[in-house]
Amino acid sequence: MGITDELTRILKAAEEAAAAVTDAAALESWRVEYLGRKAPLAQLSKALGGVPPAEKPAAGKALNDARAKLETLYGELQERTAGGGQATAGFDYTLPGIPPNVGALHPITKTYYEITAFFAALGFGVYHGPEVEDDYHNFGALNFPPDHPSRDAQDTLFLSDKWLLRTHTSPSQIRVMTERQPPIRVLVPGRCYRADAPDASHTPGFTQVEGLVVDRDVTLGDLKGTLAAFVRYTFGPRTKMRFVPHYFPFTEPSAEVHISCAVCGGDGCSTCGGTGWLEIAGSGMVHPNVFRNVGYDPETWTGYAFGMGVERVAMLKYGINDIRLFYENDLRFLRQFR
Ligand code: DAH
Repeated sequence: MGITDELTRILKAAEEAAAAVTDAAALESWRVEYLGRKAPLAQLSKALGGVPPAEKPAAGKALNDARAKLETLYGELQERTAGGGQATAGFDYTLPGIPPNVGALHPITKTYYEITAFFAALGFGVYHGPEVEDDYHNFGALNFPPDHPSRDAQDTLFLSDKWLLRTHTSPSQIRVMTERQPPIRVLVPGRCYRADAPDASHTPGFTQVEGLVVDRDVTLGDLKGTLAAFVRYTFGPRTKMRFVPHYFPFTEPSAEVHISCAVCGGDGCSTCGGTGWLEIAGSGMVHPNVFRNVGYDPETWTGYAFGMGVERVAMLKYGINDIRLFYENDLRFLRQFR
């Protein structure tokens, strides 16, 4: 008997037997007999190996068709027996379902979304610059002298003689100003990289949000007022902010932005090293040399810039004392930000 005849015979028998299937137990015996591992169909599938090559495709297809028919029939029988049978008897439609496992934004993503949302309300747009930069954008155009220590391989992760991983988001200032004309008001959120050994306050990859404003008559007061509004909005109205004079090659004057410690309220604790103050950003007025490097006339244009550490902001906001927690992907930690 050929395979096709054999299959026709099996199907006919299965259909006849199906007529007698009225409950779950009978359904299960039917399934074992016609779709089980020892069913005639399964035996035939094994025998397919011995079929002459020329006939194999047709025989294979006939087998598949027969299996599909049996499975359809099995589905129909399941529906038929489910009616008042055991399959539904124990099923409570009022039970809550299994909740899907919902993901959430990473606390760093959440924080920089919040930062950009605040500045967006003041009219800032968002710009994304590349993480792989060249020496010119990361250092040269930002007025870093050729022998500046941060150009050292100890601080910067170089990919080749020409390419490096940006050590800050400031190179995007150069890109924005080269691509556009003032007035400019942008934020640049993004990952930065430094050759730092990880500890409670350092990781080799971290996140900054850069701000840049270029227009006529921009003043240090504009910078300070904007940042103070941001600080009050993010850390609460009682938080104080101060500028501490500093040096950055691409701003003059330059200032570090300190806020009163969000943990102890300024009294002094281990988070702020007993000083009552915490640094959250660098800032300053755009240096005339930077304007010259992008072809802007420093006599016409003025501007301010700042660079904020997003991990720092998130740590203060959520009371986290080790930056490495953000990058260990421990779900017990991450779930708390859902
Ligand atoms: N790029 C600096 C850093 O990573 C931070 C910074 C300081 C950015 C002053 C600025 C700025 O835009 O004006 O340390």
